[in-house]
Amino acid sequence: MKKLLNTSALVLAFGLATFSAAFAADGDKTKGASYYAVCAGCHGADGMGMEATNAPRLQGQFDWYLIRQLKNYQSGARGVHKEDIYGATMRGMAGTLPNEQAILDVVAYIDSL
Ligand code: HEC
Repeated sequence: MKKLLNTSALVLAFGLATFSAAFAADGDKTKGASYYAVCAGCHGADGMGMEATNAPRLQGQFDWYLIRQLKNYQSGARGVHKEDIYGATMRGMAGTLPNEQAILDVVAYIDSL
């Protein structure tokens, strides 16, 4: 049983690694740089975040996580509660990314910082 669990964990880890590598490969960081121009105002040109704008650090974060959060803002899974003012701000910003490719591009750029 233990061996079976270990094997499943390995298969899962491999699957996730392949999955996130695929994301990184799909983004165009040159296009992403132009999308990031607006983001830099709050998250910093270096992606290190700024307490003054309440914007967290993005640089160094997993690309798959950033992609998921941007999709969550766009879908309304995040940033819609009436007391979530920072989330609401970010939800508007995620709206500046016109499609899924734009999300991959901006994340590829953040990944390169
Ligand atoms: C007006 C300031 C502002 C701008 C501009 C802005 N953000 Fe944000 N961002 C925030 C704030 C504030 C949060 C925290 C929101 C929350 O608490 O949910 C945030 C959160 C995020 C998160 C979630 C981070 C995490 O750890 O869960 C991502 C990803 C993100 N921003 C990416 C971007 C991208 C990409 C852009 C440009 C398209 C951008 N932001 C533009 C203020 C901004």
